[in-house]
Amino acid sequence: MASKNNPFIVTGKIDPEYFCDRVNESARLVKSITNGNNLVIISPRRMGKTGLIQFCYDKPEISKEYYTFFIDILHTSSLREFTFLLGKQIYESLLPRSRKMLNLFIQTIKSISGKFGFDPVSNLPTFNIELGDIEQPAYTLDEIFHYLECADKACIVAIDEFQQIAKYPEKNIEALLRTHIQKQTNSNFIFAGSERHLMQEMFTSSARPFYHSADILELRAIDQEIYTSFVCTHFKRRHRCIAETNVEKVYRLFKGNTFYLQKTFNEAFADTLENNECSLEIIQSAIDAMIASNDTIFREILSNIPEKQKTLLYAIAKEDTATKITSSEFIKRHSLTSASSVQSAAKKLLEKDLITKTNKTFSVTDRLFALWINSIYGKVPSI
Ligand SMILES: Nc1ncnc2c1ncn2[C@@H]1O[C@H](COP(=O)(O)OP(=O)(O)OP(=O)(O)O)[C@@H](O)[C@H]1O
Ligand SMILES: [Mg+2]
Repeated sequence: MASKNNPFIVTGKIDPEYFCDRVNESARLVKSITNGNNLVIISPRRMGKTGLIQFCYDKPEISKEYYTFFIDILHTSSLREFTFLLGKQIYESLLPRSRKMLNLFIQTIKSISGKFGFDPVSNLPTFNIELGDIEQPAYTLDEIFHYLECADKACIVAIDEFQQIAKYPEKNIEALLRTHIQKQTNSNFIFAGSERHLMQEMFTSSARPFYHSADILELRAIDQEIYTSFVCTHFKRRHRCIAETNVEKVYRLFKGNTFYLQKTFNEAFADTLENNECSLEIIQSAIDAMIASNDTIFREILSNIPEKQKTLLYAIAKEDTATKITSSEFIKRHSLTSASSVQSAAKKLLEKDLITKTNKTFSVTDRLFALWINSIYGKVPSI
């Protein structure tokens, strides 16, 4: 396992030993769920939502008492796909855990179980149905919820990138799901999402079905001091060292984004020999490599953005955090055309989640993308 060599994990499950902090957040999650509530987790991308949920799922108070399920619906665009994914995930996570629950699944989800395959080696049915086999998604979904209700243990269902359901073409999906979820007495739900404005609106607007239906946890960056000490400790344990001030510089550069931090230190660690110091040069080249490896992706994103939006995106990237973007000073400073064109460009960039607005301040959502934009304009991001 990679973790044996490198303590900074960037893919897959993280052993508790290599999981940094989240003490309060995980206590909060466990408390909400074990008290029978649902929980919303909102955070910018790659801050650690999925990691937090998985970390909590592995705690004995959860893993012993509950059946836990996790689906990421980012790529889904209809109720049919949602239902398919939920059914498949439930089936596959129960497969190794409970023969009894598996049989119950087949008996309960009648609308699709007739189409299950069969594995001659393990002697078990296989969920190899196709999306098109779900002929009446609402009906199958009803069966799935009924099944959860009959489970012999309480269930936790985490739905990642939950804001996606608001984009499904079918009407009233939110209301439909809300009705099901409200009726559940045996299951709790975790709704995670990174599109802040959509998530907030779903759960805090009184006109929406999910209004006030869950506790809200805003997952922020791991505290700078805690993260710094985490990095230094792991270097030390492997007979290497790194200066606190250098870790802090990286933290500030990425504004605490967990993934970019972990990725930088993963690479920097790999490039540091035993009994040596991880120098600023090593760290800088790890950052440069990360920026360079995203070059194609970023170019592709830019190629799909109309010029007016792109100019505004660059302006925001240059300023790092921009306020008063429709003011004449801002427009002049960045050679933009007019307040109204800035306004409509900002609206489009927000919809695409390329920029984020927090308390009247705009910033490029993806921190690495912002640094990359600056780098193509000659401002090489150095720490
Ligand atoms: N507490 C932690 N300690 C160490 N590494 C972490 C921690 N939390 C997350 N990570 C790492 O940070 C990265 C991002 O985490 P994760 O995938 O959980 O974020 P996310 O918010 O779910 O992202 P996305 O928006 O892409 O779904 C992963 O590489 C993960 O390994
Ligand atoms: Mg995630």
